[in-house]
Amino acid sequence: MSLNELAKGIHWVGAVDWDVRDFHGYSTMAGTTYNAFLIIDEKITLVDTVKKSHYHDMMHRIWEIIDPKKIDYLVVNHVELDHAGSLAEVVKAIEPEKIICSPMGKTAILEHFHQEHWPFEVVKSGDEISLGQRTLSFLETRMLHWPDSMFTYAKEDGILFSSDAFGQHLATPERFDDEANMSEVMEQASKYYANILYLYSPLIRKLLAKVAELNLDIKMIAPDHGVIWRSHFDQIIKAYDDWSQYKGGKKALVIYDTMWHSTEKMAKAVAHGIEKEGVHAELINLKVHHRSDVMTKVLAARALVLGCPTLNNGLLPRMAGFLMYMRGLKPQNKIAAAFGSYGWSGESVKLMNEAMKEMRLNVIEEGNRVKYVPTHDDLGECVEMGQRIGKAVKENIAQEGLA
Ligand code: FEO
Repeated sequence: MSLNELAKGIHWVGAVDWDVRDFHGYSTMAGTTYNAFLIIDEKITLVDTVKKSHYHDMMHRIWEIIDPKKIDYLVVNHVELDHAGSLAEVVKAIEPEKIICSPMGKTAILEHFHQEHWPFEVVKSGDEISLGQRTLSFLETRMLHWPDSMFTYAKEDGILFSSDAFGQHLATPERFDDEANMSEVMEQASKYYANILYLYSPLIRKLLAKVAELNLDIKMIAPDHGVIWRSHFDQIIKAYDDWSQYKGGKKALVIYDTMWHSTEKMAKAVAHGIEKEGVHAELINLKVHHRSDVMTKVLAARALVLGCPTLNNGLLPRMAGFLMYMRGLKPQNKIAAAFGSYGWSGESVKLMNEAMKEMRLNVIEEGNRVKYVPTHDDLGECVEMGQRIGKAVKENIAQEGLA
């Protein structure tokens, strides 16, 4: 078999995007891949396509295996344009007998490409299509990541084509998990979950239960981004199980922005107090960390302590932006508190608390405010605040039986 074959006759024909650094606001400093798969059977089938910019990469890979015009079926698991951006060109080039998609997929394809005459074959959960030697079955996975999303399962080979689920924005020369650096793969998988799927955690729990109920004999999970899970798919399923149950780690994050360093001094004192209680605290200055990297840390944190001074009766823009971003991703089950310096009006702590309460984070106190520059006594109060947070973290861990 070639380096890009998943099983005899099933080829990866996707594209590696080494250069992409932004994915709708998520920093993709490790690039990504757009995975597509070619199944050679009596009915030759292409599962998923690639971003428009990488159309020629995919077509060249297909050409090396067969004439693309020989492709009979095209499966569209998800219509977002990082996968379906090249769909119009692909349909024109291969003229498929069937475009297989979910009911919501057909709607989304029509709303993107406006081609009523395309040969749609709409499939629902449990439907099967024979390719000859192989059978494809389908499972709708609404909102993972869009309403149209679905999984395609190649039964005889035990390969689950999972679209966005279990993906990683990671450009690598390796196609399989057991060839790649697993710590990097898991780091990127957690970043992907935190920034793309976190808000859908209740649906992911249901999906994992549904997949378990179907008792599929999964030998490989092939997402549309990053490496294919061939040897460690138990590890990524366990991670999704934990993340979707909002299981936090053991540490606290002190996430802050600062104007003239007063809030920074408070942040260091709060972190010191947390550590005095034997709990690790990580200081995160929003000036130097991208919001999507901070969200990855949030996924693995037990407590979030936000610090920001007041600017024009509000928050500094980076903190306001981070709160807006985090609110959309709906983290749950976190201890929370806020602090910040001010000059005269001093609304920042109240605003951060309100935002975190609205997110249903567990805000445990009203928080600390300091006028202009903190004194040693002020910093002592911040240390005490940190100690209260550290104690709350320990109690929370003990209740979960993780101590
Ligand atoms: Fe990779 Fe939701 O697109």
